[in-house]
Amino acid sequence: MKLVEVEGLIQRFGDVVAVDGLTFSIEAGEAFALLGPNGAGKTTTIRVLVTLLRPTAGSVRIAGLDVTRHPTRVRRVLGYVPQTLSADGSLTGYENLLVVAKLLRIPRAERERAIADVLELVRLEEAADRLVRTYSGGMVRRLEIAQAILHRPVLLVLDEPTVGLDPTARRSVWDALKVLRERDGTTLLVTAHYMGEAELYCDRVAIMNRGRLVALGTAGELKAQAGGAATLDEVFTTLTGDTLESGGSYSEVRQLRRRLRRFG
Ligand SMILES: Nc1ncnc2c1ncn2[C@@H]1O[C@H](COP(=O)(O)OP(=O)(O)OP(=O)(O)O)[C@@H](O)[C@H]1O
Ligand SMILES: [Mg+2]
Repeated sequence: MKLVEVEGLIQRFGDVVAVDGLTFSIEAGEAFALLGPNGAGKTTTIRVLVTLLRPTAGSVRIAGLDVTRHPTRVRRVLGYVPQTLSADGSLTGYENLLVVAKLLRIPRAERERAIADVLELVRLEEAADRLVRTYSGGMVRRLEIAQAILHRPVLLVLDEPTVGLDPTARRSVWDALKVLRERDGTTLLVTAHYMGEAELYCDRVAIMNRGRLVALGTAGELKAQAGGAATLDEVFTTLTGDTLESGGSYSEVRQLRRRLRRFG
């Protein structure tokens, strides 16, 4: 079953065409990576999918629901971890989750159970009563994942979940996502700058450049398409004339700065 269906998606901002005729679909249960250099249109695409932006043209259906016609119902079936920070440093992890549970109108009788459940999944039980500003980057990201899955969505959308994290923290984020997939069968849509992670943890990879899809397939298929490239990084360079690492640095710095400002 196709859980996400994007057809001919176009998103303009004035003269800028951020997304230029994008078509792809994601199967239920899949982990799908959307890759591309800075400004490729990844975040814009995701913002349309999670109903924060109304598309200029084209259509997007999630679980059969059109995102422009049924935004409220779409929001109920998905969870979203934005590129920018979404946890409050002046509250504890538990308090952040309680706020989200109330916003989501999770019935009072179910709240504690739901919060304990996600805290366990992301392995933050012991840190739950600490202020989030004392958390490491990986812990903050895991808390944000916990916030996004409190209502048990069938689709979890994450915009650069591991950017600016050290390898151990990145690993802890992917471990949490793996448990989520195994336990609930949650479908994942992840944007990333690290090709290695897409290859390790995702079933299929789409590469975007200037608002268009330039490749789509398993890591193995993409390498074969790019003339037997040894790594996904090579595929990326061949297809976009850019390198992910050089493209990624600015947004990483930007993200780190935001984090430091928020928690400093
Ligand atoms: N609200 C907006 N108004 C005007 N232009 C925008 C807006 N949002 C995005 N853009 C432009 O659309 C293009 C795609 O941006 P987008 O943020 O989707 O890229 P991205 O692939 O997520 O990049 P990054 O890797 O830096 O996060 C860029 O040229 C960007 O400047
Ligand atoms: Mg982005």
